[in-house]
Amino acid sequence: MNNIKIYKKIDSTQVKTKTLADKGAPQWTIIIAQEQTKGYGRLKREWSSNKGGLWFSFILKPKIDAGSIQKISFVASISLIRALKKQFGLKTKIKWVNDIFYKNKKIAGIIVESSLRQNKIDWLVIGIGVNINNDLPEELKNISRSIKDILGKKTDGRKLLSAFFNEFKTMYAKFLKSGFAVFADEYNKNLKFLNEEVKIENGKTIEGVNRGIDKEGRLVIESGKTLKKVVTGSCR
Ligand code: BTN
Repeated sequence: MNNIKIYKKIDSTQVKTKTLADKGAPQWTIIIAQEQTKGYGRLKREWSSNKGGLWFSFILKPKIDAGSIQKISFVASISLIRALKKQFGLKTKIKWVNDIFYKNKKIAGIIVESSLRQNKIDWLVIGIGVNINNDLPEELKNISRSIKDILGKKTDGRKLLSAFFNEFKTMYAKFLKSGFAVFADEYNKNLKFLNEEVKIENGKTIEGVNRGIDKEGRLVIESGKTLKKVVTGSCR
């Protein structure tokens, strides 16, 4: 069912996969790269992608409304958290929206991009980057870490990839059948800064206590006596 292609070096698996999706490539097409020269993350931020990391993107074609895209990204985050625990015994946390943290440093990130037709999803491309054995540039070392650095030895990124898809395929099928509500608790149990004061930036600045996501996938911020529900942004 998977259509996998591995590149030694590519600009970005995300760009490649989006191009393939535009040309009609099927769901579950997976593009992996050993190294990316122009990896990018959310908000078009540069994503350092040296050799040794796990860099991949894949296509989904769910028959659901555009409003649910974020929920699928949450399902991907939970799957990655589970896979990191199973494969390496690592207890990681999700910093809203989809940054994966080990203690106070980011070890992985997730981006979801889409093509829509009349509010329906034509395709989604989910891109995931995990710092496995790659060396991080000096300027990122105070905010990012690799799994090699945490475990003190090199590890096998491909095993993480298959652990991720084992989790994701089951959870994604459940999501399509039963909706997102069943996943909100697991997301919140693994949420960094839950019940702590946070600052959300999304064009505006929203400050308050992070109460986690609701069953619709919106982040709830308690600000004085009001509850503000936020759908996108970044969290400090
Ligand atoms: C983020 O944290 O902002 C998301 C980072 C996503 C990086 C991955 S690496 C594989 C895929 N190709 C890219 O160019 N980006 C994603």
